[in-house]
Amino acid sequence: MKYSRIQFSQSHADIDLYQLQELFNLAAFWAKGRSIKDWSIAIANSEPVISVWDRELLIGFARATSDGIYRATIWDVVIHPDYQGNGLGSKLVETVLSHPRMQKVERVYLMTTHQQEFYEKIGFQVNNTTTMVLSNQSNFDSLPNGEIHVQELLKG
Ligand SMILES: CC(C)(COP(=O)(O)OP(=O)(O)OC[C@H]1O[C@@H](n2cnc3c(N)ncnc32)[C@H](O)[C@@H]1OP(=O)(O)O)[C@@H](O)C(=O)NCCC(=O)NCCS
Repeated sequence: MKYSRIQFSQSHADIDLYQLQELFNLAAFWAKGRSIKDWSIAIANSEPVISVWDRELLIGFARATSDGIYRATIWDVVIHPDYQGNGLGSKLVETVLSHPRMQKVERVYLMTTHQQEFYEKIGFQVNNTTTMVLSNQSNFDSLPNGEIHVQELLKG
C-alpha cells in the first residue's frame, strides 16, 4: 500500500456522508442502516471527528465526545476491510487521542466489547465497573419552559 497518498483529516466539513454511510454498511455491524440525517446529527455533536482518505475514497473514520477535561468516549472506529492490518486503525485512534479536546482528559472510555486486543495494544484496559446503559430515552419528555423557570427561581 502506498502510504504517501493516505491522509488523515479532522475537519467536519470533509466528511462525505454518503461514503460514510457506505463504509459503515460494509464494515460496522452496529451501524448498518443509519440514515444520512442521523449521521449528520452525530457528526455535528462530536469532536474530534477524524476521517482517513485514500485520495477521494473514505477508508477510515472515528469520532469522540468529550468534556475536554474529565471524561470522553470514543465511538464508531472503522477502517475499510481492504485497508485493515496496515497500522491505520492504531494511527486513527492515536489521532483521536492526540486531539486538543482529548489530550487532557482524565479517562477515555470506549463503548465496545469487540476488537479488545486491538485496543489493548493502544493502552486501553478492560473495565467491568462501568456497565450501566439506558437504551431508550423516549420516556423523558423535555421539561416545559415553565418548569425550567420555576427551577431557576428555586436555585435563586
Ligand atoms: C478494529 C480495526 C479498526 C483495526 O484496524 P486496523 O487498521 O486493521 O488495525 P492496525 O493494523 O492498526 O492494528 C494494530 C494492531 O492491532 C492488532 N489487531 C488489529 N485488529 C485485531 C483484532 N481483531 N484482534 C487482535 N489484534 C488485532 C494488529 O495485529 C496490530 O498489532 P501489531 O501492532 O502487533 O502489529 C478494524 O479491524 C476495523 O475497522 N474493524 C471493523 C470495525 C470494528 O470492529 N471496529 C472496532 C469496534 S468500535
